Amino acid sequence: MNILVTGGAGYIGSHTCVELLNNGHEVIVVDNLSNSKIEALDRVTKITGKEIKFYQIDLLDKVSLHKVFAQNEIDAVIHFAGLKAVGESVTLPLRYYQNNITGTLNLCEVMEHNGVYKMVFSSSATVYGLQETVPLTEDMPLQAINPYGRTKLMIEEILEDLNLSNKNWSIALLRYFNPVGAHHSGLIGEDPSGIPNNLVPYITQVAVGQLPKLNVYGGDYPTPDGTGVRDYIHVVDLAVGHIKALERIMMVNGVAAYNLGTGTGYSVLEVISTFERVIGKKIPYSVIERRPGDIAISYANPHKAKVELDWTSTKGLVQMCEDSWQWQVENPTGYERKDELNV
Ligand code: NAD
Ligand code: UFG
Repeated sequence: MNILVTGGAGYIGSHTCVELLNNGHEVIVVDNLSNSKIEALDRVTKITGKEIKFYQIDLLDKVSLHKVFAQNEIDAVIHFAGLKAVGESVTLPLRYYQNNITGTLNLCEVMEHNGVYKMVFSSSATVYGLQETVPLTEDMPLQAINPYGRTKLMIEEILEDLNLSNKNWSIALLRYFNPVGAHHSGLIGEDPSGIPNNLVPYITQVAVGQLPKLNVYGGDYPTPDGTGVRDYIHVVDLAVGHIKALERIMMVNGVAAYNLGTGTGYSVLEVISTFERVIGKKIPYSVIERRPGDIAISYANPHKAKVELDWTSTKGLVQMCEDSWQWQVENPTGYERKDELNV
């Protein structure tokens, strides 16, 4: 099939492009490169031996988006493009609503105009907000606690409304838990700009000596060791989940949400100690106050994805740490080429 991947140059998008190409699909990427580098797609070609058609286009530019659909016979869309930093969304809410919501509205309008009704959407476990119980199941009441989360929740609702208006739509809402790790080739991985917000990229940058030490946000949560618990999921498992979701939406119309997580939660201290074992050295850290907006525990019940998508995670925490480390060591400055660095 011909698959349009919005945000395909990004972290999860680039790993999904690899899986799509390896499964025999043609891939067309639309990305404005606001949080990624074109080098990621060159590396995808290096891994797979297959070319990607790339358009540097902003989803806010509807005219250019129409041209992409006019020039290509698109069967389905995997929609990753969006801004994702929770803290930044609190300070720049308009930017987040404009980019994520308007970008998605434009995409849906252009899809509908061109008779393309199949979409896999990148949602997030953030739509569960604060819940009383874990594991989290898809039928729990949803709630967002910051502008980023609200964009995901609103987009889920917009896509539900679209399906109500026209039953041709077939949409999978994939609620990712905490994506980490990298492709085992060491060629593609997460390349955060500036100081990382997320735990694993922060740990790898401390381990490689780019940052002095890790701050552990909160040691007084109601968890076994007092630190926050999350469901870390290997990005390649996550990418495979998109192929499974694509297969499902080609067969069944409607809108359905799926948790993509392992079903196991690990604390921050467990992640640190696993990482230390993998790399054979200590990670300096201090436990400081809680980070505003963080929840204590989040992990998935991934049963629905197993039953309906035939998807289950295969890679454990050790492999997540090994692959994140390999990516960091082989690409200490991410995708930035040496000639761009002024060194
Ligand atoms: P990423 O920033 O690496 O990738 C997003 C890509 O979208 C980037 O390449 C960026 O340049 C592009 N983009 C952003 N706005 C655009 C626009 N208006 N037009 C065209 N391109 C645009 O992020 P990621 O980690 O790969 O996440 C992909 C998706 O998954 C996002 O929607 C994110 O919200 C969601 N998600 C991510 C996580 C996570 O922890 N990484 C968790 C849950 C959900
Ligand atoms: N943490 C630290 N130190 C750090 C970074 C994180 O102790 O430097 C802790 C956090 O407090 C949390 C855990 O490590 O307990 C994981 O934090 P991340 O920032 O890696 O991930 P979050 O669970 O906070 O956020 C992720 C995505 C968000 C998404 C959210 C809910 O990054 O986009 O999951 O789905 F909204």
